[in-house]
Amino acid sequence: MKKDITYLHTKKQRKQPITVLTCYDYPTARLQDDACIDIIFVGDSVGTNVLGYKSEKEVTMADMLHHVKAVRRGVTDAYLLVDMPYASDRNEKQAVANANLFLDVGVDGIKLEGGTEKIPIVTTLTEQGIEVCTHIGHNPQIHGTKAATHGKTISKAKELIQTAAALADAGAKLIVLEKITEEVSQIITESLDIPTIGIGAGRYCDGQVLVINDVLGMGPPFKHAQRYQDYDHLTFEAISQYIYDVENGEFPRDENVSHISADKLAQVQKWLESER
Ligand code: KIV
Repeated sequence: MKKDITYLHTKKQRKQPITVLTCYDYPTARLQDDACIDIIFVGDSVGTNVLGYKSEKEVTMADMLHHVKAVRRGVTDAYLLVDMPYASDRNEKQAVANANLFLDVGVDGIKLEGGTEKIPIVTTLTEQGIEVCTHIGHNPQIHGTKAATHGKTISKAKELIQTAAALADAGAKLIVLEKITEEVSQIITESLDIPTIGIGAGRYCDGQVLVINDVLGMGPPFKHAQRYQDYDHLTFEAISQYIYDVENGEFPRDENVSHISADKLAQVQKWLESER
């Protein structure tokens, strides 16, 4: 069953947690979809996690479209969400044009970072029938890769609660809360009709999102994340074993190779001799 925005809102109403992972390629999208994830999210974190960029700010629309198209081919049921990369939504006109490029390749919704300054853009996209997920708290495109916790002071807590409400009023269908204190995230979650998706925002959001690399154990561990696999170690071991096997004549083995029949080989050798 294809998961749409109504399905996600129903999950919030029923207090069923919404599951979200980032995804950057076709095979991982297939596995996430097969595992029945709710939202497959092509984040601009593709820049630092896959493309070797130093910051999310280096990610372009072309990068995002390339990865979205690959992920799209692996998605059947999940809601497909994509990040508007840095400076791709500077004004309403540009945001609509770029969001449409994503819709043309089959995404269900677009996510953009920022606070109340993004309200005109959220309103315009919503009026065009485009499903928008907003993203407050730590915004890598604005604050950089080093994430501080938001919502620790009274004024910041109030600001976050008001910003979340204003973005929802502007038409946002989902909101990501990144690196926000658990208490403030809970207040936001309980005060909004739209689902909150937390990352480093505690236990009371309507859903959770993690970066797939962090889940699989690629790269350094983070406090907000959980490693469910040790990909780096397992992959290094596999590569080292392969190098050892090739260098020591252990690969390929007979079961890895194909043969020509002895009589045909004899004919080839006879032909070779006649050619000399
Ligand atoms: O790009 C990304 O991975 C994100 C998550 C932090 C939600 O925006």
